[in-house]
Amino acid sequence: MHRMITMGFPLLLTASLAGAATPEDAIKYRQAVMMTMAGHVNAINLIFTGKVEHQDALVGHAEALAAAGAQVDRLFPAGSGVGKTDALALIWQEGERFTKATQAARSATSQLRDAVRSGDRATIGRSLKPVFDSCKGCHDRYQKSE
Ligand code: HEC
Repeated sequence: MHRMITMGFPLLLTASLAGAATPEDAIKYRQAVMMTMAGHVNAINLIFTGKVEHQDALVGHAEALAAAGAQVDRLFPAGSGVGKTDALALIWQEGERFTKATQAARSATSQLRDAVRSGDRATIGRSLKPVFDSCKGCHDRYQKSE
């Protein structure tokens, strides 16, 4: 605990003095949020298909996924296309088309959250595919393939 405090304090200090994020940190943050979405969407899928129980965790996963989905459009600041990133330069060249891809993720994840809140299994089932489609739709065009 003590160690966490002494480590955390300088970090907070740095953050409060810093202006905009460095490109490196913007990239790390983007990748962290993307990993978060992958984790929640996989967890939702495992619960929904009955491979694990944890029904009571479904709403939490769906809320967190929607929160992340709502900020996808903020994860690509100018200058964050260079460095340790798989983001293609096309993102910053195709402003409007890319923005549509971010909005697709926002709306699909928020609809899934609403469906999960409603508890209606059929609605949840119908709301899953648009989420996966929004991930894949963006990755196919804008993410470097290995
Ligand atoms: C609007 C475009 C877009 C949407 C929507 C999107 N992604 Fe991504 N995703 C990207 C890009 C671009 C990268 C590469 C990021 C980088 O390396 O800087 C990426 C990277 C990732 C990564 C790898 C992260 C890492 O550590 O390198 C995962 C996992 C991921 N996305 C999952 C998802 C999931 C799950 C969804 C849907 C819920 C999703 N993404 C929706 C564009 C998108």
